[in-house]
Amino acid sequence: MQLDRRLSVAPMMDWTDRHCRFFLRLISRHTLLYTEMVTTGALIHGDRERLLRFDPAEHPVALQLGGSDPADMARCARIGADWGYDEINMNVGCPSDRVQRGRFGACLMAEPGLVADCLTAMKDAVTRPVTVKTRIGIDDRDSYDELVDFVGNLVHAGCDALIVHARKAWLKGLSPKENRDVPPLRHDLVLRLKGDFPDLAIVINGGIKTLEEASGFLPRLNGVMIGREAYQNPWILAQADRIIFGDHRPTPTRHEVLERFRPYAEHQLATGVALTAMSRHLLGLFHGQPGARHWRRRLTEGAQTSGAGVEVLSSGP
Ligand SMILES: Cc1cc2nc3c(=O)[nH]c(=O)nc-3n(C[C@H](O)[C@H](O)[C@H](O)COP(=O)(O)O)c2cc1C
Repeated sequence: MQLDRRLSVAPMMDWTDRHCRFFLRLISRHTLLYTEMVTTGALIHGDRERLLRFDPAEHPVALQLGGSDPADMARCARIGADWGYDEINMNVGCPSDRVQRGRFGACLMAEPGLVADCLTAMKDAVTRPVTVKTRIGIDDRDSYDELVDFVGNLVHAGCDALIVHARKAWLKGLSPKENRDVPPLRHDLVLRLKGDFPDLAIVINGGIKTLEEASGFLPRLNGVMIGREAYQNPWILAQADRIIFGDHRPTPTRHEVLERFRPYAEHQLATGVALTAMSRHLLGLFHGQPGARHWRRRLTEGAQTSGAGVEVLSSGP
């Protein structure tokens, strides 16, 4: 199956869980959504139902895996495909200490052969697209030649698409949060990479905040991935179906989105999900609108009140 990856929302730990994705899907029908990173260890030994379940409405949705053992990655790719995920993505971009200790994430940029082995094993295990999300370099391994070498290995292993967070990561000395802001953005390198790998689907990520900016990349690249802005100001996705995907069906209003989220939340509450686990993802909905701060406070306090029901989600500012 060919996935339309012209616009996607980035995998974000603690943010893009299933409730968040269900909510974002109410705003855009076509934007490709990514899960939080799930490690192979958690998936093999942990509670699969909790880690993988999602609502069918979330499609198209990609599962991001963290790991570096080819057999485990293949096994987890198969599990993800069996659960119905539309794409399996490998994380080669996360710089956290915990992830480095597990020898996966961004530190794998130093082991192109191992990443390629993982990809080959995953490709053998599933028919869904297998993709990689990476950085432009790590530490002192940040020359363009090294990046080309790394990407060449991925292409050889059959990578279906490459998502590039257009900054390097400093594995020592910067926190994950700093690593998302401090190293300078190099969108130019992603464009250059497309010139050198014209047949590889390349998606650009990092610092993109508007659909206008996203559209600017689309004639040249295969897609744009938005992270923080899509979470903190999700309404930027409201015009995505029209502007990016050419779907001119009417888009719901913010209030309609809230109304449509309610039955979902009601059902989740009945299965034991805490209201705050869902309401926290809605806080950015009225970003920049009059009364937004007041609404956020009302929603936060309302959802924390014991016995609160979905009525706290019912109205906007
Ligand atoms: C809270 C948070 C959690 C993140 N978790 C992940 C993750 O699990 N996997 C991953 O590949 N990137 C993760 N990222 C990085 C984003 O996917 C993205 O690459 C980065 O935020 C840059 O894009 P942006 O400038 O549009 O936010 C995370 C980012 C944030 C803000």
